[in-house]
Amino acid sequence: MFQNKVVVITGSTQGIGLKTAEILGKRGAKLVINSRSIDKVENAVFFLKQFTEEVIGIPGDVSESSFCEELREKTVQKFGKIDILINNAGVASSGMISEMHSRAFEKIVSINFLGSVHPTLAFLPEIKKQKGGIIFISSIAGILGLPGYSAYSATKRAIVGFAESLKIELTGTDVFVGINYPGFTENDVQKTILNAKGEEEILKKREGIKATSQEKTALGIIKQIEKRRFRAYSSISGKFIQLLVRFFPRLTFFILAKLRKRMESMQ
Ligand SMILES: NC(=O)c1ccc[n+]([C@@H]2O[C@H](COP(=O)([O-])OP(=O)(O)OC[C@H]3O[C@@H](n4cnc5c(N)ncnc54)[C@H](OP(=O)(O)O)[C@@H]3O)[C@@H](O)[C@H]2O)c1
Repeated sequence: MFQNKVVVITGSTQGIGLKTAEILGKRGAKLVINSRSIDKVENAVFFLKQFTEEVIGIPGDVSESSFCEELREKTVQKFGKIDILINNAGVASSGMISEMHSRAFEKIVSINFLGSVHPTLAFLPEIKKQKGGIIFISSIAGILGLPGYSAYSATKRAIVGFAESLKIELTGTDVFVGINYPGFTENDVQKTILNAKGEEEILKKREGIKATSQEKTALGIIKQIEKRRFRAYSSISGKFIQLLVRFFPRLTFFILAKLRKRMESMQ
């Protein structure tokens, strides 16, 4: 299904995005790799060339609308079309609301929310021509607001609202819209997180959490595209939490209130 499909994955120089690119490259997709760091983009393209020659890297910040237009132009120049956009770029953030600075909220809204909106606006006309698809990478934190992760939860939930509106507006166009809710997934050692002041710092190893492999999360995203499913939860915990929230909302809040001390100490 992915043979000769042009797939743009934002934030794809490490982690889930890079693993998704690797699997799609092996399946014949033409890949566009992106992140802010030129070095990381070059390294990722070099790595992916083991699997496919049809890969380019375009460094830049997807929270800037002008860059997203450049990303579209360069992709079309190279491959002539765009089939699938995976809005994967994102950053985690942590901190109790009472300790957080406004700057941290501004930064995370700009990366996690606008960083999915701008590529969508820029790519939509091309994707409509191909009857392709747009996938949004949310999180379990986008199902309900987690203690200690307010900014992250809010932006991952905002993506869901945007994707729902988009899906309804695109009724009858044959464009596929999907929201993927990964659970805790193994991190690369260089993964960063925004602290309460809005500064990026290396994420400490998360203790006491069973993480899904990057391959399993990436395969979940790819299967969702193949099946054109609107919502997909790539972990058992994601499926469980969304059922709990839907059918037992008060119980969910009670459990989270009990677990909050433990969750705060996970940061
Ligand atoms: N890992 C998990 O447990 C988990 C769970 C649920 C959801 N998710 C979501 O899945 C996605 C990928 O997660 P991950 O753990 O693989 O993340 P990651 O290891 O931190 O990688 C994030 C990627 O995004 C890039 N990036 C960050 N800001 C960007 C921007 N403004 N413009 C362009 N690229 C940007 C980073 O590179 P540069 O620094 O070079 O820009 C990097 O390549 C994220 O949206 C995340 O919220 C992850």
